[in-house]
Amino acid sequence: MFFFNTAFAVALAVKSVAAANTAATTLWFDSSNIIPIGNGRLGAQVLGQFPDEVIILNEDHIWSGSINDPNNKNCPGALPQIRDFIWADDLASAQDLVTNSCMATPLGQQEFQTAGNLTLSFPDAQISNLNHTLDLTTAVATTTYEANGVQFTRTAFASHPDNVIVMRFTASSGGMTEFNAGFVTPMDNPTVTASDNILKLNAMGQSKGGLDGSIKFVVQAEVTVSGPTASIAANDGQLSVTGADEAIMVIAIDTNYIRYDDISGDPQGNVDATLSAVRGKSWDDMLDTHLGDYQPLFNRVQISLGTPSSTSFLPTSQRKDLPDGADADQDLFSLYTQFGRYLAISSSRKTEPSNLQGVWNAATDPGWGSKHTLNINQQMNSWLSEPLNIAETLDPLWNMLTEMAERGITTAAEEYNISRGWVGHHNIGIWRDSAPIDGAQWGMWPMAPAWLMQNVWEHWAFDPSLTDWASETAYPLMKSLSQFYLDFLVAAPSDVEPEQYLVTNPSMSPEHTISGNLALSYGSAIDTALIKDLFNHTIGFANLLGVDSDLVDELTTAMGRLMPIRIGSLGQIQEYARDYDANGPFNHVSQLYPLFPGAQIDPRFNSTLADAARVTLQQRGDSSNGWPTAWRANFFARLLDGEKAYYFMQRLLQLYSYDNLWSYNDIWQIDGNFGGANAVAEMILQSHNGEIHLLPAIPSSWEQGSVSGFRARGGFTLDIEWSGGTLTSATITSTSGTAARVRYGDNAIDLTLEKGGSQTLSTADF
Ligand SMILES: *[C@@H]1O[C@H](CO)[C@@H](O)[C@H](O)[C@H]1NC(C)=O
Ligand SMILES: *[C@@H]1O[C@H](CO)[C@@H](O)[C@H](O)[C@H]1NC(C)=O
Ligand SMILES: *[C@@H]1O[C@H](CO)[C@@H](O)[C@H](O)[C@H]1NC(C)=O
Ligand SMILES: *[C@@H]1O[C@H](CO)[C@@H](O)[C@H](O)[C@H]1NC(C)=O
Ligand SMILES: *[C@@H]1O[C@H](CO)[C@@H](O)[C@H](O)[C@H]1NC(C)=O
Repeated sequence: MFFFNTAFAVALAVKSVAAANTAATTLWFDSSNIIPIGNGRLGAQVLGQFPDEVIILNEDHIWSGSINDPNNKNCPGALPQIRDFIWADDLASAQDLVTNSCMATPLGQQEFQTAGNLTLSFPDAQISNLNHTLDLTTAVATTTYEANGVQFTRTAFASHPDNVIVMRFTASSGGMTEFNAGFVTPMDNPTVTASDNILKLNAMGQSKGGLDGSIKFVVQAEVTVSGPTASIAANDGQLSVTGADEAIMVIAIDTNYIRYDDISGDPQGNVDATLSAVRGKSWDDMLDTHLGDYQPLFNRVQISLGTPSSTSFLPTSQRKDLPDGADADQDLFSLYTQFGRYLAISSSRKTEPSNLQGVWNAATDPGWGSKHTLNINQQMNSWLSEPLNIAETLDPLWNMLTEMAERGITTAAEEYNISRGWVGHHNIGIWRDSAPIDGAQWGMWPMAPAWLMQNVWEHWAFDPSLTDWASETAYPLMKSLSQFYLDFLVAAPSDVEPEQYLVTNPSMSPEHTISGNLALSYGSAIDTALIKDLFNHTIGFANLLGVDSDLVDELTTAMGRLMPIRIGSLGQIQEYARDYDANGPFNHVSQLYPLFPGAQIDPRFNSTLADAARVTLQQRGDSSNGWPTAWRANFFARLLDGEKAYYFMQRLLQLYSYDNLWSYNDIWQIDGNFGGANAVAEMILQSHNGEIHLLPAIPSSWEQGSVSGFRARGGFTLDIEWSGGTLTSATITSTSGTAARVRYGDNAIDLTLEKGGSQTLSTADF
């Protein structure tokens, strides 16, 4: 009875912290489904199966291969010829030369791999009332079911401070908790051992592309049982728990990876230290420690987009597929947005940023390598963190970029013969190499780092108190990258461009082709827009910090020579400097980077460009995948078109989400989750180009709602309420900003706030 009471008390504690509207913060299923939990470094997929449960385990440094030098040193010698072919519009010869002279060795990149599975087998029985749930307010996964009149409960969470995954198994009658636990892995050189109460898996990352596996890892589970008849036995690499009232399993995973050039870590020593630090801690203590870390992050933001209806309390898998569309259940969009925040907190803290699959991958050879893809995906993974108030989840990105820049100095020299600055291309992994990979048409794009620098700038824009961070981390990265592009840009010959603009050459518009597989030309719209933003932001930081006035002059001059955005023969935003555009349907809409996530196209200030952006979106089509749909929702939010943004959000949920709301991109890919969450934020609040814009793109379906804790650029948080589609109140609080221009509808007002002060506005103020 003692243990049953403990379980009950925890259940009550968990309930009391839940937001009033559980429909916006609970996922639940009446059958097996993947529930992801993670502490930012460790990931686990809890499947909720019976009698054979599987927990798929990940650690974010378990990758294939080893460090190598991928750079192609023939590239500098070939570049002048490549450029000449492109000026002459001989794109085939240019691309052949890139293929032969510039691509990385090996041509592919290393991949994020699984640790393996914890297998749990329970005594078979007829079960009923399976409920497999995830409470976003606690980040606790719970699976309950009944068998022979006994209620069984499995609970799991991943603790960031304790660095472990914790599971508890209980039953409503004493002595009924029984299972066998083992490990299986597809990874190299596996050994599984069980002794006393410890189950251990040792294995290695695999070899790929001719590079030997070098990551060694240990997964170690420690089980404790309680109750008068409880026992644990170890045999044949399995632990058997019998007759227990309760069993608690604590799982630690570690590797030999310290940083890209240091794999001298001691995985066994690390898991021993981790486990001994929590040994003797009760379940309640571990849960408290976890909640004390997780809830201050998660609870910063509340979102309500409607009154829950009867359908709001259906299993999540059914809510998403309601025949009338989601219209009956608007809080599904709040759930989706909060789930995005949950996934970011769970997959991106302290070590690696979330990759294409977050930190949840069961394979050795996952789709797209489960890498960090840098031509939209990693950036999209990062969008929600600032406006939705979990900026800490970007800390691992800053670390990755700093290390990318270290290795990128060599890439700049060896691939481009550029001796100042650093560069990278369209993918990166834990080895931090970022040479052109996969093939010329995808890989020869040295602009990815410029796009990532936008996230760097935004981090400061949302919190201008970060002057030290700007000086120590952000500005050095941006300055050095700007220097690379100053040397990479070339003046177009006057017979090609009479104005002799400074352009990129070679250049592409990510993953798009001009004809056949030909993708390389000069001066793509995205390249120019990225460089303009980077130079402008580098100037912004230099002025803020009062440094490098010569560089500011150089960048200002170069910015003045960049090509303006062009409108093509079809009325579209032109994708390349030459108007090649066929503009059929395509996932990427890179030429609209200046609309979103950039802000160079803004319908409030230039309708000509905004109209051309609309034409472009129409030509590109609706897409039939997750992240492109999420990007489109953001584009239309920026075009202040709430109905179209909502149309894409509905498509994202209904067509491009798995039952567990994971985003679908032919494979499971997390960017759609993050991009979709950000689109909801953009529909409710925008803050670019000097204005905080309240309810810029609210669809008619979101007639009433309230949000709190949303952040705006300039150093503010906002709580907003509306009803009948009209603003009721907006409270703006300064976190570090003082002056704010706030727009609602056609009017904007200027406010002056004290730091820490706040002001409440209503429709009457506008
Ligand atoms: C690299 O740059 C240096 C200095 O500008 C130049 O002397 C050298 O010829 C260049 N190398 C190649 C392969 O272009
Ligand atoms: C399953 O659990 C969730 C979370 O506690 C709850 O909202 C839902 O109503 C439960 N489902 C059933 C059928 O009891
Ligand atoms: C781990 O479990 C998943 C899901 O059941 C399965 O697809 C995968 O093959 C398992 N891995 C191993 C090594 O058995
Ligand atoms: C430069 O950045 C500032 C701050 O974000 C912005 O207000 C300004 O419009 C930008 N200028 C250009 C030319 O993009
Ligand atoms: C809007 O953009 C177009 C195309 O770049 C430009 O020609 C026009 O001058 C701009 N209009 C305003 C009002 O800035």
